[in-house]
Amino acid sequence: MSKSSGKKTVISITSAGFTCLLLLLVVAQHQRVQVDEVPNQREMGTRSLQSTDTLATDGVKAAEQQVNSEAQAKKGFSAYFSKLTRGRREADKPAGSAQSTTDASPAEDISADDIFIAVKTTKKFHQSRLNLLLDTWISRNMQQTYIFTDGEDEELKKKMGSHAINTNCSAAHSRQALSCKMAVEYDKFIESGKKWFCHVDDDNYVNMRTLVKLLSHYPHTQDMYIGKPSLDRPIEATERLGDNKMRPVNFWFATGGAGFCVSRGLALKMSPWASGGHFMNTAEKIRLPDDCTIGYIIESVLGVPLTRSNFFHSHLENLQQVSRSELHKQITLSYGMFENKRNIINMKGAFPVEEDPSRFKSVHCLLYPDTPWCPLQVAY
Ligand SMILES: *[C@@H]1O[C@H](CO)[C@@H](O)[C@H](O)[C@H]1NC(C)=O
Repeated sequence: MSKSSGKKTVISITSAGFTCLLLLLVVAQHQRVQVDEVPNQREMGTRSLQSTDTLATDGVKAAEQQVNSEAQAKKGFSAYFSKLTRGRREADKPAGSAQSTTDASPAEDISADDIFIAVKTTKKFHQSRLNLLLDTWISRNMQQTYIFTDGEDEELKKKMGSHAINTNCSAAHSRQALSCKMAVEYDKFIESGKKWFCHVDDDNYVNMRTLVKLLSHYPHTQDMYIGKPSLDRPIEATERLGDNKMRPVNFWFATGGAGFCVSRGLALKMSPWASGGHFMNTAEKIRLPDDCTIGYIIESVLGVPLTRSNFFHSHLENLQQVSRSELHKQITLSYGMFENKRNIINMKGAFPVEEDPSRFKSVHCLLYPDTPWCPLQVAY
């Protein structure tokens, strides 16, 4: 049986950005093989605790129902991108989508200090990914940014102090390790007393000014869950009720790789399923990764709908489609590799691609031209 190269490719281009969505894609590509391998749910459960390699197997049940595996397997990422485009059109619909950040009057006068931004990383990426963020958007937002990692790093401690948090979670890229980190993020947010919880990955640029504007449209005491769905329909998963009973559940979730935000009002309601050790237990109940588990708690358990925003971007979408003239409106950006090509936003900027492959330095100089290391620029 070939654990085909497709899986490896997908995994390597996304490295840390493993999300629910990726899981589904991997599963879709291997579903026929995997299904034959899975004798029953019970055995699946045991195996998933033994090895991270069974991640794909775990999601089979959910993926069976929600992806057209034939089409997906054949077309891989092309189908995937067109699906995202459809999701984008869907997200463009005014109903239930986040207001444009420029119009409408604010509901609440908040500042960056009211936002808790959790950056999920792993020790392996402190040099290659985190330093870029520390040099760019984090440098202006030290007070609201918290780094959640899995190893000690004196350099990072020097820069971030108590905002560098060693979760003591495993550095493996398993469902359990990711949920372990999300659980710590949640607890630290509750402890912080801040009004909004926002989660991003270590390959995200956060445009704080626009994020503050977006969130100020909603009272933080209201139930708000804002982000970008990754699929064009709700995920269909299976909830384990104990006594070997199962129940199908449908819910939307915001893909973690694009970043998402939750109001304090809603976060407090999530507590019975998310605080202390509960998040890990909840994640086990549906056997899906951290970002899906958040969606499950909010949409499926609490009945609060996801508010869509098209201004969040993950490395799993075609970033060329982000318009250069609307860069200042975007809330998060990302970068990645796809089939040995860079998947990056298309912009001329202060730095050429060779010097700034993620484009984050150029974006930062566009948004904050007064940054000391930005070249004095004429218009781009
Ligand atoms: C991780 O372990 C260290 C050492 O035992 C401890 O001081 C720290 O509080 C732990 N971190 C978390 C998030 O629990």
